Amino acid sequence: MKLWGGRFQKTTDRLVEDFHSSISFDQRLYRQDIQGSIAHATMLGKVGVISQEEAAEIVRGLQELLEEIESGQVEFDVAAEDIHMNVEQLLTAKIGAVGKKLHTARSRNDQVAVDIRLYLKDEITVIRQQLKELIETLLDLAEQHLHTVMPGYTHLQRAQPITLAHHLMAYTQMFLRDRERLADCYKRADVLPLGSGALAGTTFPLDREYTAELLGFAEVSDNSLDAVSDRDFAVEFCAAASLIMMHLSRFCEEIILWSSGEFAFIELDDAYSTGSSIMPQKKNPDVAELIRGKTGRVYGDLLGLLTMLKGLPLAYNKDMQEDKEALFDAIDTVKGCLMVFRPMLATMTVRRENMAQAARGGFTNATDVADYLAKKGVPFREAHEIVGKAVFYCLQHNKNLEELTLQEYQELSPVFAEDIYDAIGVEYCAAARKVRGGPAPEAVLQAIARTRARLE
Ligand code: ARG
Repeated sequence: MKLWGGRFQKTTDRLVEDFHSSISFDQRLYRQDIQGSIAHATMLGKVGVISQEEAAEIVRGLQELLEEIESGQVEFDVAAEDIHMNVEQLLTAKIGAVGKKLHTARSRNDQVAVDIRLYLKDEITVIRQQLKELIETLLDLAEQHLHTVMPGYTHLQRAQPITLAHHLMAYTQMFLRDRERLADCYKRADVLPLGSGALAGTTFPLDREYTAELLGFAEVSDNSLDAVSDRDFAVEFCAAASLIMMHLSRFCEEIILWSSGEFAFIELDDAYSTGSSIMPQKKNPDVAELIRGKTGRVYGDLLGLLTMLKGLPLAYNKDMQEDKEALFDAIDTVKGCLMVFRPMLATMTVRRENMAQAARGGFTNATDVADYLAKKGVPFREAHEIVGKAVFYCLQHNKNLEELTLQEYQELSPVFAEDIYDAIGVEYCAAARKVRGGPAPEAVLQAIARTRARLE
């Protein structure tokens, strides 16, 4: 028997039953569904829509049901469509007729909205914590690599010397923003829709503020139509998740490059690498590649949600049942990636000497030679021209800038003196960029301190 069977003369076609049922994926909301129902029944009892005894009986039944589900004793019924009707059906089977009063002044439309909001709020808290731990790992690594010089790149061409600490700190800023975005998204999820009914509220004198208090919602929705058709919070979450994935993916791309034989800047731990079934020598960065690959699915989840919502007239439409798989997939993917990414990073070996070697090549100190001239009064544009010629000369003579003799330098410009050699060692070049936000160890230490403070 369907909970909505009264108006119908025929049973649902078997095909339709399978097609529109959501229990296979919305059963993961069972805890939030029961939690929402307990609050709703308690509130109904408080305002006298049902008696206190009836409320108590319903709450007791729901608590028992929760334990049974948790211990794996319950099998859900596809014919009961979704988690909401499954819970109600199981409750009524358990406590009898009084169970049928639970759905007073409620619709599955406000019920599903409350369930997803409760679920997402918990998951946001978990993901924010994962990001916090990742940032802490990066800060610890940065502290160890304040003096590990490496080339910084633009266009993937060696550009200027920086340090590994500085490079890692770039990612801490991205993940800090990600945490803030999630905190902001949380605020929009933290609104109680229950009490909006199917679309038009209810004639029963509900105490929605009390329900909100019981469920831990900061706000109560102010328009019943909006409350049952709003999935902005899910879109916002998927957008924030997409950015997290984009940041992870860029980082993974670098890890993949850095662990190649051509770069050889790092070596991933054996436990976070995989081999080849045919090529015995291979050690592949599969974890990083898979995270990069999974980024696409989270973008897909975001686009799927936006597209699903764009043509919907107010208020609820069954299209919205499609919100859950996208949202769940984004949550699972981000959590799974963060879980494996942090230890992969924490266990990698840094090949400092290769990084320094790469920084010494590629004329990464050319800007510093130009700065040297500019500090002695040569207009920067002229200095740039002179050093461009110096680089050209070096390329022809297979030298780097540190290897030019003073005489060679002075042929390019009489301003050069013996102190040029102090100004262009790559360690010095990184350490001399003391500006706030720069790679000098003391600047990075300050950035680390500010980042730690923002994490608290
Ligand atoms: N399973 C539905 C969903 O996930 C619950 C709401 C159903 N409401 C309705 N009017 N059919 O969206």
